[in-house]
Amino acid sequence: MITGKYPNLRLRRNRKQSWSRRLTQESTLSPNDFILPIFLIDGSNKKESISSMPGVYRYTINRISKVIDRAIKNGIPMVALFPKIKNRLKNEIGSESLNENNLVCKAIIEIKKRYKNKIGIMCDVALDPYTSHGHDGLIRSNQIVNDETIEVLINQSLLQAEMGCDVLAPSDMMDGRIGKIRKALDEKGYQNVQILSYAAKYASSFYGPFRDAVGSKGSLKSDKKTYQMDFRNSDEAMREVALDIKEGADMVMVKPGMPYLDIIKSVKEKFKIPVFAYQVSGEYSLISNAIQKKLVNEDVVVESLMAFKRAGANAIVSYYADRIDKILK
Ligand code: PBG
Repeated sequence: MITGKYPNLRLRRNRKQSWSRRLTQESTLSPNDFILPIFLIDGSNKKESISSMPGVYRYTINRISKVIDRAIKNGIPMVALFPKIKNRLKNEIGSESLNENNLVCKAIIEIKKRYKNKIGIMCDVALDPYTSHGHDGLIRSNQIVNDETIEVLINQSLLQAEMGCDVLAPSDMMDGRIGKIRKALDEKGYQNVQILSYAAKYASSFYGPFRDAVGSKGSLKSDKKTYQMDFRNSDEAMREVALDIKEGADMVMVKPGMPYLDIIKSVKEKFKIPVFAYQVSGEYSLISNAIQKKLVNEDVVVESLMAFKRAGANAIVSYYADRIDKILK
């Protein structure tokens, strides 16, 4: 691979001037690379800060247009909607997920009405924002049951598709759900709804602030290790991705992001399909708090995001996406 040697070969030559560094750079970031998560709350005219995620807010539906206007102006291709519903609407089976007047449904309708196809809408398919126990699936005799959960996920998918969601993102990690959701969508005429599978999703402590943001933290009494992956494994991630592709996933997600760059790279190299990375809430909070405390300067944001591109990610879900104009400047 190395075709010369010092002193006639000097790698610093290409680095000497800014124009030369720009000319030889291998990875770039643009607004096209970002998906912006938006947290929703009920009510009107509220913008709530989230203590564990400095700079991130929950919005009522009538306040999201400002955020989306700016995202469109900046060239962000897609938003991802996450609801924080009232505790009294939560129950064991997460039935609010199937209510056609729930927060996510109302937001989809509002965004589609206002923006048509100027920006894509992605919605999680999972029950955790809706269940009283905070798990992504149904519980029977202390187990998260797989196949019964899928039946609910199918209905949640169909409902979100009917409302106008463009990209369904199952984040539940049940076995076999991609195939079943694809089949149900096709049967109901939703052939064009895309599926972004959270295929390699690890049981991670980096999700802490998110659970706070959607209000599932207090309710969750145990971990998610019986369905999300063990962070010691990478072969298993390849199996998860292979299965989801076979079942009909259009795109796959690796999550969390930065601690799993090896997985992003392997998935991209092996499967040659669109791979997305999720820079999750814990990553965001660590970086943002460190910047606030002046332990590092804010250039670490671009550096952390570029790592995903270098590893092979096509796009990044990031809580920084709402400020991407400033970050890329
Ligand atoms: C729900 C879901 C989670 C995240 C996205 N969708 C949390 C979890 O699985 O507990 C985490 C996102 C983040 O931490 O930013 N299935």
